[in-house]
Amino acid sequence: MPKFEHHVFICTNKRDEEADRPSCARQGSEKLKSAFKDAVKEAGLKGKVRANELGCLDQCEHGPVVVVYPDAVWYGFVHVKDVEEIVTEHLLHGRPVERLRLADTCLNTERCPHKLVPKGK
Ligand code: FES
Repeated sequence: MPKFEHHVFICTNKRDEEADRPSCARQGSEKLKSAFKDAVKEAGLKGKVRANELGCLDQCEHGPVVVVYPDAVWYGFVHVKDVEEIVTEHLLHGRPVERLRLADTCLNTERCPHKLVPKGK
């Protein structure tokens, strides 16, 4: 069996409503896995692209969060309506969807336009 060309990782972590940070499942990410699987199959990429759900990717303020490897392209605020575009543009044609891409300045930073200033900072 040939190896996968891309892995799509979808955060489906779910926190309590009272948690300090938001979580992707509460933003609708649980519907993304089946949407990606359907779109991958529709695009003829089954066996080349694998979509998996997983726990927190620590980019919670940008959820639902999806990351595509080996490209290391991070997407934020992804919803079902965006899935076909990611599959067609990025995974089929190799053109990341810039309008959904998280800026490097948002990744693994304490502060960005989407994060509140941490307590005590
Ligand atoms: S809950 Fe999805 S990145 Fe943290």
